[in-house]
Amino acid sequence: MKEINVLVTGAAGQISYSLLPRLISGETFGSNTKVNLKLVEIPPVLDKLQGTVLELVDCGFSNCGSIMSTSDINEAAEDCDWALLVGSIPRGITINGKKIEERGDLLHVNGGIFTDQGKAIGTKGKEDAKILVVGNPANTNALIGKSNSNNNSQLWMAMTALDANRAKAQVSIKTNRSIEDIKGMTIWGNHSPTMYPDLDNASIDGKSVSEIINDSNWIENDFLVRVQQRGKEIIDARGASSAASAANAAIDTVKNVENDTEEDTWFSAAVASDGSYGVPEGLIFGYPLRTENGKVEIVQDLELKDYAKAKIEITTNELLE
Ligand SMILES: NC(=O)c1ccc[n+]([C@@H]2O[C@H](COP(=O)([O-])OP(=O)(O)OC[C@H]3O[C@@H](n4cnc5c(N)ncnc54)[C@H](O)[C@@H]3O)[C@@H](O)[C@H]2O)c1
Repeated sequence: MKEINVLVTGAAGQISYSLLPRLISGETFGSNTKVNLKLVEIPPVLDKLQGTVLELVDCGFSNCGSIMSTSDINEAAEDCDWALLVGSIPRGITINGKKIEERGDLLHVNGGIFTDQGKAIGTKGKEDAKILVVGNPANTNALIGKSNSNNNSQLWMAMTALDANRAKAQVSIKTNRSIEDIKGMTIWGNHSPTMYPDLDNASIDGKSVSEIINDSNWIENDFLVRVQQRGKEIIDARGASSAASAANAAIDTVKNVENDTEEDTWFSAAVASDGSYGVPEGLIFGYPLRTENGKVEIVQDLELKDYAKAKIEITTNELLE
């Protein structure tokens, strides 16, 4: 059996509770791969994490290798093939007597975390390690991590697959077609309410989804707002942010990177811009991606209407702030 090492931060959190069993069940990396988990939590939460570890053992998955729990990112990053960076400090938490509410404070606190994680993964992770940032603000955290990794052979991504899955679900309901029929859903830009889910370039049976729906009012005022605000809709309903669907999207992203992409489609994640579509180089930006011969490439030459270009400019400007 092949063996791989998967680092997961925020391992005692909500998303990880749904994510971890699927990493070792054989579903994500295949039935011939043993998965060694390197679980990272902050010291006060290590005892709680032990409870999750006991449950993982009790699942009895034959693809489960060793399980390490630690609060030392350097120890966990050693030889990692994948790093799923789920842990981050959410808005509203009180640190040293100060409630973290402002975007600037949030970035400051998380910036420190992702600086250390980037350095550890860059120096200790495998040369071809793949890193998926889930913890918000995901694009900015990924930018900080990548810059500090000082290692351009590793692939840093921020997750937009949940937004793409949400967009596909809404299109599926509207068109009465199955999710599998909907190809090439792109989330352009930032994983935030400025993201742009692109129905012009998504297709069903080779035809543009926006042409099939043929209702710009629905697309611009119902669909767009619903997808952009879905995170908030879920928080309002369940009193906690999306967890099972976020874990599912992380699994989708790993599978999309691990396996070559089918002919007629692509997937969505944010990667460092190489200047494609006029986005400033280096920004971690949501793009249409394909995996070919194990390498992730940005899909080129998609046509963008003026409406789409204007939306992409808004999300680009937010990332430049
Ligand atoms: N990209 C997306 O689509 C998406 C979707 C949903 C949620 N999220 C984000 O994912 C993150 C996690 O969500 P959750 O519901 O699991 O939150 P959660 O609060 O249940 O869990 C987060 C865990 O991270 C841990 N943590 C904090 N700092 C850490 C550090 N430095 N190292 C290791 N662990 C650390 C915390 O102790 C906590 O257990 C949040 O930032 C959330 O906003 C992103």
